[in-house]
Amino acid sequence: MSRKITISIFRYNPNIPGDEPRMQDYTLEEYEGMTLFVALNEIREKQDPTLMFDFVCRAAICGSCAMLINGRPGLACKTLTRNLPSRFTLMPLPVFKLIGDLSVDTGTWFRNLQMRTEAWIHTSKKFDPNALEVRMPNEVAEAIYEPERCIECGCCVATCVTANIREDFIGATGINRVSRFMLDPRDERTEKEYFEIVGNEDGAFGCVGLMACDDFCPMDIPLQKQLAYVRRRMAKAGLKLDLKGMKIS
Ligand code: SF4
Ligand code: FES
Repeated sequence: MSRKITISIFRYNPNIPGDEPRMQDYTLEEYEGMTLFVALNEIREKQDPTLMFDFVCRAAICGSCAMLINGRPGLACKTLTRNLPSRFTLMPLPVFKLIGDLSVDTGTWFRNLQMRTEAWIHTSKKFDPNALEVRMPNEVAEAIYEPERCIECGCCVATCVTANIREDFIGATGINRVSRFMLDPRDERTEKEYFEIVGNEDGAFGCVGLMACDDFCPMDIPLQKQLAYVRRRMAKAGLKLDLKGMKIS
């Protein structure tokens, strides 16, 4: 049975002088299988062409449609309206720079993260385009694949207490990213080099352990496990560092 739903949406365009943050209600007819992606497009097409929000893939792949849905971070394209009450709110993700309404700039944040964590394979081997592929044991490939599934939506960052109060904290997604390279045997970085990136309060030791990131990751990446892995390695590295005075390798 169809019902009417009312979506109360955060509105504010920082580029319009004098614009004030406010909530604006939109009511529309719900139908079977309606996602928030569909509902927002319908609002923009039929009620308000000025409404700003982001979408690319509509299939939980690009990560651009994350927002606070009734106060919880989630992907609009993956959320069915029938699983929400007949009246609910949509807000932009906190932590990230607001572009306008529900649209935030996650791109700049994630670009900075990639640069800070040096998220590429560090190897001394010279690239040979004619070389044959080197096989990797299945279990290693699978372990790398797990953190690699991150779609950079920002839900884990938005829900993180530390990230909300400390702008330099790399968040669960950053720690997850580092774990991906630690697990990769092709990356030749030493423990000391990893420690310099993530063995501090803005990295693996900044998390206060509430683990909301783990609850709200739409890709179900085991963020708690990845954090524990990185912390274990960094705690051992830190101990060696203390004992040997920067002579860890
Ligand atoms: Fe999104 Fe999960 Fe990646 Fe965080 S770890 S950015 S919640 S996909
Ligand atoms: Fe790509 Fe939702 S539109 S994840």
